[in-house]
Amino acid sequence: MVRIKPLGEGRKFCGHTTARMVYPRIAVINAGLGEPSDLSRYAVACAEHTQMFLVPANAVGAPVQQCLSLPRLEKIRKELRFWQILYNRAPSSRENRNATLNIENKVVVITGGASGLGLATAQMVIERGGKVAIFDLNEDLARQAAENLGSNARAYTVNVTDDASVQAGVDGAADDFGAIHGNVNCAGIGAAARTVGREGALDIAKFNFVIQVNLIGTFSTLSKCAAVMAKNEPIGDDQERGVIINTASVAAFDGQIGQAAYSASKAGVAGMTLPIARDLARNGIRICTIAPGIFETPMMAGAPDRVRDPLIEMVQFPHRLGNAVEFALLSQQIMENPYLNGETIRLDGGIRMQPK
Ligand SMILES: NC(=O)c1ccc[n+]([C@@H]2O[C@H](COP(=O)([O-])OP(=O)(O)OC[C@H]3O[C@@H](n4cnc5c(N)ncnc54)[C@H](O)[C@@H]3O)[C@@H](O)[C@H]2O)c1
Repeated sequence: MVRIKPLGEGRKFCGHTTARMVYPRIAVINAGLGEPSDLSRYAVACAEHTQMFLVPANAVGAPVQQCLSLPRLEKIRKELRFWQILYNRAPSSRENRNATLNIENKVVVITGGASGLGLATAQMVIERGGKVAIFDLNEDLARQAAENLGSNARAYTVNVTDDASVQAGVDGAADDFGAIHGNVNCAGIGAAARTVGREGALDIAKFNFVIQVNLIGTFSTLSKCAAVMAKNEPIGDDQERGVIINTASVAAFDGQIGQAAYSASKAGVAGMTLPIARDLARNGIRICTIAPGIFETPMMAGAPDRVRDPLIEMVQFPHRLGNAVEFALLSQQIMENPYLNGETIRLDGGIRMQPK
């Protein structure tokens, strides 16, 4: 049960019909003194949007006989906007219900969506009423994942290292769903080999392959998705058209022994985040990168205890591997929060990796 409690005497006001936010999710409406003002209509729209409780002011004993000055009105407007941002499903008008930040009915392409971090993100999108195009090299796993996710998910067999395959997947998803609003890039491979091993210098083909999958595959997919997103009708106050989320790794910053290729690929993903945000600003498309620490996914499941244990040891708190749901939670926040852009965010329990 919600207890109605005014924030403070200084905040009481009235005009004609007007409103104020007292607590998160409670809008207090001072009704009954003439025609509704623009501000009160605005507040009511906000309240409907946020499913706030509308409460007559006299329910909390607020005085109503006091005229509003213009600066006061401005302050209230800002206050309303503040609550909207805090409860970021609350754009300023009914039309904004279709804003990109609202995942419902939005189409998200997820590479590597058949497993691990990508699959958890796909589940999050489906749970919020969105639609998912799973791009994965593993055909069987992708089909199985789409079946489990239900009718709002489809699987596409895509190899992110093959430009034509990515283009076919993007075209297919755009045709099948009618649009693309989000793109989360989780397809990736781990690889461990020293720069100089027992057999000499690292085979450059191996280095190249990791870069092809993790870096070039990510750019290939996001650029093609962005080209489709750019055709979306701009929506919401911010005129947004789409959101891209890439997956780097903490190895982009503190790579371990044997991680030259992997760290280079992930540093590339982190490094291209800002210039891409700048490129796509004119299209109304945001991009952020998540740099996960060590997560409990099939990629890590294969690692022996002698690899896992020292990694867990380096995690500060909570003292465990990350859960894929925690990655999906941050993906959700990036999708929904319109002010996140051009940034790489570590999600790592405070880990700073040691050389080995
Ligand atoms: N798990 C971790 O601890 C961790 C930590 C940091 C970063 N990451 C990164 O997160 C991403 C996801 O990792 P995960 O742990 O979920 O791995 P995962 O192995 O569970 O899933 C990766 C998926 O990518 C797919 N894939 C691989 N190569 C592909 C290709 N060429 N084209 C299309 N799909 C391809 C695989 O089939 C698989 O379904 C990777 O980029 C990884 O480097 C993972």
